[in-house]
Amino acid sequence: MATINSFESLRSIDSQQLPLSQAFTLLSEWYTEQYVFDEEIKHIFSNQWNFLCLEQKIPLKGSFTVLQYLHHPVIAVRDRSNSIKVYYNVCRHRGGPLAYEDGIATTNVLQCQYHGWTYMLDGSLRGVPQFDKVDLFDKKDFGLIEIPSIVVNSMVFICFGEPIDEIPTIISTLDQKLPEQYFSSKRFHSSVEYIVDCNWKVYADNYLEGYHIPLVHPTLNTMLSYRNYKVESNSEYVLQHSPITNSDENDLALYYFVYPSMMLNILPGRLQTNVIIPIETNQCKVIFDYYYDEEMFELNQEYILEDIRFAYEVQKEDATICKAVFKGLSSSAYSKGRFSVETESGVYAFQQWYRQQMCFLK
Ligand code: FES
Ligand SMILES: [Fe+2]
Repeated sequence: MATINSFESLRSIDSQQLPLSQAFTLLSEWYTEQYVFDEEIKHIFSNQWNFLCLEQKIPLKGSFTVLQYLHHPVIAVRDRSNSIKVYYNVCRHRGGPLAYEDGIATTNVLQCQYHGWTYMLDGSLRGVPQFDKVDLFDKKDFGLIEIPSIVVNSMVFICFGEPIDEIPTIISTLDQKLPEQYFSSKRFHSSVEYIVDCNWKVYADNYLEGYHIPLVHPTLNTMLSYRNYKVESNSEYVLQHSPITNSDENDLALYYFVYPSMMLNILPGRLQTNVIIPIETNQCKVIFDYYYDEEMFELNQEYILEDIRFAYEVQKEDATICKAVFKGLSSSAYSKGRFSVETESGVYAFQQWYRQQMCFLK
């Protein structure tokens, strides 16, 4: 099968929006070609609000979290006035990191790990060792570069360019659909980062359907009521939900996927957020953050550890299938497929949204 060699050709060939029962999945080039990846970084990830974490991940004044987001080293810190500030984790001297891992600035300064320049939590440069003899050097010109951020419903979003999109309305209205103060009642427990050998959309597609659960996740399959598994979707998000079997109170498991790459996995007393960050065409990073209600920390440590262990098992199963699927999509044997109307409307909705973004760029 001939490969489509340019972004212009691909989007002119694969821009058609058809109803679910007639639609084809995205052509494989959307997953495998470098020119697509470059356009995605520009048009999907650079100019809109990207989910970072819940603000409870940095709970105290001076606490910070660091991560690599696309090609940007990022540090988010809680400042002296209790606000969240996000900066490039890049010292203005020669580009060193302010921190390698999450921590707390007990002395209220961030110190570069290379030659020791120090910065106040408001980003201003404070200490510059052995720089007395440097001419025309004004510390005011060398503060940390801030990344625009907003906090909505405890969720922190950042933007690497000029934001063109509003925060999806689901984010500001989500607490109305959930028990009161669902987000603000959570406390951060821990975070795990996975590198998955597939295009970021393979991971997204996989998350968006329960069709694969019986074969890929046999244990999970016994815990969810697969026949009552429901999918709702619109132009901002896909919600999958299912009653939890053996639960006394008709509890629901809710899985939100907010385009392009944010996931909220909601169970009673527990919130797990996932974010997919593209690395290369053939690789992505997925960050799992675990938050629980305060009383769970005191009463239910065993539940928490088992919850994290089980999520790890499920993630291993997903990573294995996603890696294999990406190899399949990269093979000349595959070009495009079809959707199950009963079970893949979430994947379809995401791919419709994606085509809209990529084929009708402003
Ligand atoms: S790079 Fe930061 S102090 Fe030199
Ligand atoms: Fe899965």
